[in-house]
Amino acid sequence: MGRQPESVSFVGLGYVGLCTATVMASRGIRIIGVDVDEKRIEELRKGHPPFHEPQLQPMLKTVVRKRRIEFTTDASQVSDSSTVFLTVGTPSREDGSIDLTYVKKATQDVGSAIAGSPAYHHVVVKSTVTPGTTTDVVRPVLEASSEKVCGPELGLSSNPEFLAEGSAINGTLHPDKIVIGASDAKSSTTLTKLYRRIYSKSKVPTIVTDPTTAETIKYASNAFLATRVSTINTIANICQRVPNADVETVAKAIGLDPRIGPLYLKAGPGYGGSCFHKDLQALISFGRSKDYDPLLLTAVEEVNQRQASEIVNLSKKLLGSLDNCRIAVLGLAFKKGTDDMREAASVRVIDELLKNGAKVSAYDPMAVENARRILGDRVELMQDAISCLKGADCCIVMTEWDEFRKLKPSDYKSNMKTLNIVDARRIIKRDDFDGFNYLGVGLGLSS
Ligand SMILES: NC(=O)c1ccc[n+]([C@@H]2O[C@H](COP(=O)([O-])OP(=O)(O)OC[C@H]3O[C@@H](n4cnc5c(N)ncnc54)[C@H](O)[C@@H]3O)[C@@H](O)[C@H]2O)c1
Repeated sequence: MGRQPESVSFVGLGYVGLCTATVMASRGIRIIGVDVDEKRIEELRKGHPPFHEPQLQPMLKTVVRKRRIEFTTDASQVSDSSTVFLTVGTPSREDGSIDLTYVKKATQDVGSAIAGSPAYHHVVVKSTVTPGTTTDVVRPVLEASSEKVCGPELGLSSNPEFLAEGSAINGTLHPDKIVIGASDAKSSTTLTKLYRRIYSKSKVPTIVTDPTTAETIKYASNAFLATRVSTINTIANICQRVPNADVETVAKAIGLDPRIGPLYLKAGPGYGGSCFHKDLQALISFGRSKDYDPLLLTAVEEVNQRQASEIVNLSKKLLGSLDNCRIAVLGLAFKKGTDDMREAASVRVIDELLKNGAKVSAYDPMAVENARRILGDRVELMQDAISCLKGADCCIVMTEWDEFRKLKPSDYKSNMKTLNIVDARRIIKRDDFDGFNYLGVGLGLSS
């Protein structure tokens, strides 16, 4: 039997690790995927992803069938790889600061695995970590556990990930940039070469810098994106209070200014998902630890938290008191294209509805099972949109799934008790909904 081709390992097979590993495998690179979750590994071996992500399942099935990817719980297997990506979670501690427990453990596992190996290994921190972590936290743990010193025989880089859930595969196939924060020239060359193999045909802009700047780029990116969301939601909330003003037209117009640009200007119920809140909290906490209070970021977070009340207030405008009213919530995932419920705005809205005495039925095309874990029996989770609408006094459209765009006025008319709609995503064509009481986020009532 011939020698196996050089491999690349991923430690942590969540959204980032699994999607990146699968895309690399599809580009002909031999991958070893490691995770501590045995059940996840068992399913992955059968080609079953643990979450919904468009395009992932068929791609994963193919690379598993072609044996381009192996899955294991045994971290020592990474010793076979020249490059090892750390893609474990970096959750928040109770005070908002970053919890590096998984990063440290994964680093230690990798270090122990490569200890004694004469080959060159390059460890790449892809998890989102606060500035300085790769150099001040990962490096000492890696050096101690591998009994090697970073340099000619051990490479170390930060290589933050910018994919977005719901378009993670497409984002990994066509990234807008690659950021390489290398601790030395050899690390930089190794990673640049690997990415050249993957993106040989397309020229992806690549920023090569030091690890700390690379880590900061990731936080700056999420801080800017979250700020845009809270800014447009602030404008939406002002529009709502001005007769005839419409945030959609405002966004379209300001988006034409090249200094602003059109993306990420959609008013809604507030951002969710696993990253923005967690990363902003980590950055705020990091800033404070350095004697700097990043006030802007605190405000961005507060605007986002309050946005749920803005949506609930729209339903109050339609119904008066919500006590004993039945509210149908269409959409639970934090955005379309994913079953991820982490920090979903739907949960904040539902909590507030329940606090106001409402009874809630809810439906999501993908996220019902994940939602059940968070919401329990506080809401009635339905299997389809029509059952969700049955007997409702008001419907709140929470997630911008295409399925909800396709609902016809008759679907609401023949099922709801009273025709009240709150459109938290502005996906409903109002002109088709004559005879309905309709309020949309960022839409001022007509005078
Ligand atoms: N989800 C996103 O959209 C996204 C985008 C960019 C960056 N990130 C960042 O990437 C990192 C990973 O995020 P995610 O959403 O993929 O996380 P995730 O929670 O979905 O997955 C993390 C995985 O790591 C595994 N794990 C934990 N400790 C381990 C260990 N010692 N060895 C092996 N496996 C271990 C867990 O079992 C889990 O499967 C985070 O730092 C996150 O902030 C996430």
